[in-house]
Amino acid sequence: MTEKVDTDLLTTQGRIAQLKARYHEAVTASGEAAVAKQHAKGKQTARERIDALLDKGSFVELDEFVRHRTTAFGMDDKRPYGDSLVIGTGTIHGRQVAVYSQDFTIFGGSLGEVAGEKIMKIMDLALATRVPIIGILDSGGARIQEGVVALSKYGEIFKRNTAASGTIPQISIVCGPAAGGAVYSPALTDFVIMVDGTSQMFVTGPDVIKAVTGENVGMEELGGGLTHNQKSGVSHYLASDEDDAFDYARVLLSYLPDNFEAEVPEYLSSVELEITDRDRKLNSLIPDSTNQPYDMLQVIDLCVDQGSFLEVQPLFAPSMVIGFARVEGRSVGIIANQPKHMAGTLNIDAGEKAARFVRFCDAFRIPIVTLVDVPGYLPGTDQEWTGVIRRGAKLLYAYAEATVPLVTIITRKAYGGAYIVMGSKSLGADLNYAWPTAEIAVMGGQGAVNILYRQDLKRAEEEGKDVNSVRSELADKYTISVASPFLAAERGEIDGVIEPAATRSLIIKSLRALKSKNVASPRKIHGNIPL
Ligand code: HXC
Repeated sequence: MTEKVDTDLLTTQGRIAQLKARYHEAVTASGEAAVAKQHAKGKQTARERIDALLDKGSFVELDEFVRHRTTAFGMDDKRPYGDSLVIGTGTIHGRQVAVYSQDFTIFGGSLGEVAGEKIMKIMDLALATRVPIIGILDSGGARIQEGVVALSKYGEIFKRNTAASGTIPQISIVCGPAAGGAVYSPALTDFVIMVDGTSQMFVTGPDVIKAVTGENVGMEELGGGLTHNQKSGVSHYLASDEDDAFDYARVLLSYLPDNFEAEVPEYLSSVELEITDRDRKLNSLIPDSTNQPYDMLQVIDLCVDQGSFLEVQPLFAPSMVIGFARVEGRSVGIIANQPKHMAGTLNIDAGEKAARFVRFCDAFRIPIVTLVDVPGYLPGTDQEWTGVIRRGAKLLYAYAEATVPLVTIITRKAYGGAYIVMGSKSLGADLNYAWPTAEIAVMGGQGAVNILYRQDLKRAEEEGKDVNSVRSELADKYTISVASPFLAAERGEIDGVIEPAATRSLIIKSLRALKSKNVASPRKIHGNIPL
């Protein structure tokens, strides 16, 4: 007996009805109970997240009807349309982006053959059309039922992440688990946003750690948002909830070009080139005592378009500040030492944080403004033995190979190797200025005096003098004579000594002057940054 033909499907209206029914099936595939479970955890569904991220009504979904082809483990009984992933295109502030969003309510968001193919399809489209790609992650990792096929899809995704690196901006928003090797796709992207309390990233989970090392650690402590924002530096922003994560991604994108050849978005702003009363606040920000801290965030705020600074990775290595701002409405990358934390000392984490940021800005042709107040590298065996030589060299490398406009302002201390590494002229910065409060020297006054005047200090002690006051007097003399910014200016090591209040206007004029900078990188396959 032949199967009865549904005659409705021979009519146009019947076929449209079938499409609607099938689409309804696709968007409701997880079922109400799974959605309720997701909501109960404080998590949105894959589609709700896309709606929250993109401009209203802009999303165009692709591949909502794909289905997995696995038959093992009874999988052929459950073949939901769309599989464990929603992909498509849309806009953010009217700009085109590509997006994928893992659906934890279907097979735990796990990645099998077709889910992998969907991610690759949207990545290929993003690369071909040269638009940013945003991934929303919430997944149990490789689909266990699909074995090696699932694993190899990850490899193909990593290959595309790498091809996209430096070509289009890649942003990962981790809204749930990202376990095992699955963490490496976000790790290869430019920015990782995590949600406090509901997102976790780890290569080996608590159970495996307990079995192998005996160590007891909870999921949140091991790989939660706070851990990766504060300790590991894997993540660049700790969102208070999912909506905060999407807001941050939207704002972040407003600073980024669509691709490495595109211009950054320009937000019209009128600028005052004369020194204003607001600018004059910079004249009283630096304390008279060089050991007293001040907040570099205040300096940044007064040097760029008002209110435009967006900090990146604020919780990690806080002695180094990185982020985007606007000058005359156009994006710049800001790199600055933060005297409020460890006196702005450079350590391994701070160096790596800044190095990756320099390379991002350079890859996407975003000019860099560096603000320097650094007493040197953090001394100690911990730093030496964990590779401050190899890992600290990354920042030197990043600045030295950068071809974007580089403007550097020394506000106070710029000592030794740390002076060189923080966007110095000798590393290739274009325009370098110092405030009159700058101290540029091989080392700080106290340290220098201990070496230069060792005999004199010893004699003073023998003569019963107050050694500390002798040392301070000599250090002051050293600072005024040897560390004076005018010595650097005399030799052309810096391009000028400027009144702090003139900084904002000077940055505007400097970036105007450097707009046409065109320096070719030497022809080679690629350099060998000390990783
Ligand atoms: C298939 C999976 C899955 C997976 C979860 N599920 N992970 N199905 N493959 N990898 C399914 C569960 O069976 C369950 O199905 C549903 O998703 C929800 O999972 P729960 O465990 O109930 O949720 P929860 O308690 O929130 O725990 C989430 C979790 C846990 C922490 C992610 O599911 C988990 O530990 N999963 C395995 C993680 C993992 O080890 N993955 C492999 C990593 S290795 P039902 O039907 O019961 O609802 C890897 C290699 C990549 O990814 C290699 C790249 C180089």
